[in-house]
Amino acid sequence: MRTQVAIVGAGPAGLFLGHLLRQAGVDVVILERKDRAYVEGRVRAGVLERITVELMERLGVDERMRREGLVHAGANLASDGEMFRIDMAELTGGSTVMVYGQQEVMKDLFDAAEQRDLRIVFDADAVRLHDVEGERPHITWRKDGAEHRLDCDFIAGCDGYHGVSRATIPDKVLKTFERVYPFGWLGILAEAPPCDHELIYSNHDRGFALASMRSPTRSRYYVQCSLDDRLEDWSDERFWDEVSVRLGPEAAARIVRAPSFEKSIAPLRSFVSEPMRYGRLFLAGDAAHIVPPTGAKGMNLAVSDVIMLSEALVEHYHERSSAGIDGYSARALARVWKAERFSWWFTSLTHRFPDQDGFDRKMQVAELAYIKGSRAAQVTLAENYVGLPLV
Ligand code: FAD
Ligand code: DHB
Repeated sequence: MRTQVAIVGAGPAGLFLGHLLRQAGVDVVILERKDRAYVEGRVRAGVLERITVELMERLGVDERMRREGLVHAGANLASDGEMFRIDMAELTGGSTVMVYGQQEVMKDLFDAAEQRDLRIVFDADAVRLHDVEGERPHITWRKDGAEHRLDCDFIAGCDGYHGVSRATIPDKVLKTFERVYPFGWLGILAEAPPCDHELIYSNHDRGFALASMRSPTRSRYYVQCSLDDRLEDWSDERFWDEVSVRLGPEAAARIVRAPSFEKSIAPLRSFVSEPMRYGRLFLAGDAAHIVPPTGAKGMNLAVSDVIMLSEALVEHYHERSSAGIDGYSARALARVWKAERFSWWFTSLTHRFPDQDGFDRKMQVAELAYIKGSRAAQVTLAENYVGLPLV
């Protein structure tokens, strides 16, 4: 089999890239290790920046999102139970975010892929990348007991943090930067109306909590937990008690306690690998970088990467210029580092660290009080939260 661009991974990065390239007339094949149900079933991101909303529109996959997604013009912060609102739209000259689950985005992209004959090979086992430094890279994999081969011009490594693409780049080329946080997030989904019509990010003496949603009848809540915690330690009752205390009395009074139908623990990490290109291999999304989820940036960063990568590849095929390809890594990383900074800062401001002393705690409380009273501080938060421009 032969194609122009081989994409490894059918998560948000791989699928958005596949659609973008196909729309521009570039031939692509996507190789995915799991099946569609698995990829679509993972409960992850919930907040889309404007660039992601606009990309859905540009690809003509925005119809359901326009109907079912929730436009949010603001979000709330809480400090030891006291809430205040950040009017994101007013502070940024009208920018909003869209609450629409990653699962829904994936469903819309997979449906459109079927209608548009975007080629996706599911259940591709033992994917290996070959000759990425040379002119003629290729990929091999196993499926249904047979060995397969795909020859291509370029490979896009969109296979997430644990994928094979980044691992293909020699250690002497790759520089990595990492911060592992000493806590995780325990998240639940419940069929219950949200406690507020906007999100609440709460810093409490007992740890971080977040009230989010998927629809007017479906709530998503998170609490900071210990990395040693197991799901069995967290009955629904314990979860509801804890999130109520951390969000504060105003929100707690409106929490509807329904049985959870999903519960999972995610570790928190900041990670960047540089460069995002090696020969004819390009990395995009979680394959190249991870942010802690506090700023809701992970999927949106995958989107900005693939917008830039598609522009570079289209420039190569349509204009016979390698300028875009040569500049991709530096261009993408410039935006990645700013989102890394924001996600690290927002995490540091809102979580309880095990080695935190009284002074550190006072600094958090003082910074939250400063944000509450300062338009300048709110503008900084808001412009990062709604998403920095693509430059
Ligand atoms: P992935 O989603 O990891 O997709 C990679 C794909 O590659 C997978 O389908 C995988 O099966 C496949 N793959 C892996 N290895 C191979 C292989 N060897 N061969 C073939 N295929 C392979 N982001 C936001 O923007 N907003 C949020 O509100 C937000 N909240 C989050 C909350 C939680 C609890 C978590 C865990 C994450 C959150 N994120 C959020 C982050 C977001 O989900 C990720 O950043 C996003 O999924 C990255 O997309 P990706 O396509 O780069 O990688
Ligand atoms: C959600 C996740 C986040 O990381 C975030 O910052 C906001 C919302 C969510 O899953 O709804």
